[in-house]
Amino acid sequence: MLFVEAKSARIPALGLGTWELDGRTCARVVEQALRLGYRHIDTAQVYDNEREVGDGLRSSGVRRDDVFVTTKVWTNHFAPHDLERSVKESLVRLRLPHVDLLLLHWPNPHVPLAETLGALAHAKRLGLTRHVGLSNFTVALIEEAVAASPEPLVCDQVEYHPYLDQSKVRAACERHGLALVAYSPIAKGRIKHDETLVGIGRAHGKTPAQVCLRWLVQQNVAAIPRTSRIERLSENIEIFDFELSQEEMSRISALAHPKGRLTDFGFAPKWD
Ligand SMILES: NC(=O)c1ccc[n+]([C@@H]2O[C@H](COP(=O)([O-])OP(=O)(O)OC[C@H]3O[C@@H](n4cnc5c(N)ncnc54)[C@H](OP(=O)(O)O)[C@@H]3O)[C@@H](O)[C@H]2O)c1
Repeated sequence: MLFVEAKSARIPALGLGTWELDGRTCARVVEQALRLGYRHIDTAQVYDNEREVGDGLRSSGVRRDDVFVTTKVWTNHFAPHDLERSVKESLVRLRLPHVDLLLLHWPNPHVPLAETLGALAHAKRLGLTRHVGLSNFTVALIEEAVAASPEPLVCDQVEYHPYLDQSKVRAACERHGLALVAYSPIAKGRIKHDETLVGIGRAHGKTPAQVCLRWLVQQNVAAIPRTSRIERLSENIEIFDFELSQEEMSRISALAHPKGRLTDFGFAPKWD
């Protein structure tokens, strides 16, 4: 497994996303993923599955210290006392003494960012998390957060796949030593029938999803694909035994288009 390094954090380059996984399916998929070699699990308070993620982790038999667990604080808990309380509740659900990475799930313009970042840093100093970071932050918000955060921020988790150009956010992350973690890394499954990815995959004996995930990790980006199917767990992690050429990387990057973004909400920031 490769790692994406940022400040003192070593983030396994391939993780398991768990949005929309729930109940026994969630616990079973997490358990199986860890048995197959995944060492990075991504959850969030708002996914309502932290309990099942913790169950899967325990039943996998993999040592806790060998797994990188991320959770995210939902935006209604950004006032300082709420943040600390909500993180402690997450840890009770996960049945863990700490997570590895704690993220602000989305920017929330209704609470001063400096206050929320102060509370996030406090959670780290209390030992509730090893690292802290951001999600869905734009270039301007990254700059503001880096300047205001009392503790080093290690990543920005944003939507990133071949159909969405994220070069501005990537450059900002690089400038500030943040890792980029790609969510919806296989464009919610839309890559499956992409002719370019199918063609490149054929040359390497790989599927479109594997080509897409390889394209991300070759950019030093971490990716957290989600699947509810056990057979796809193996498919999505078998990306460390081949390499895309510069020409193939460029052909995949050229798939980006202005309507490529899949996740957008009324409360989203003004994207770059
Ligand atoms: N920070 C944020 O705001 C945010 C937002 C969105 C997502 N995320 C995180 O990122 C994770 C991944 O993003 P996502 O769930 O939106 O989308 P994704 O991982 O890009 O795609 C998941 C979809 O692709 C299908 N799939 C999985 N493996 C496949 C393969 N090898 N070939 C073809 N199809 C495949 C899955 O179906 P099956 O289940 O049938 O395999 C599922 O429908 C989330 O689970 C969550 O942890 C974070």
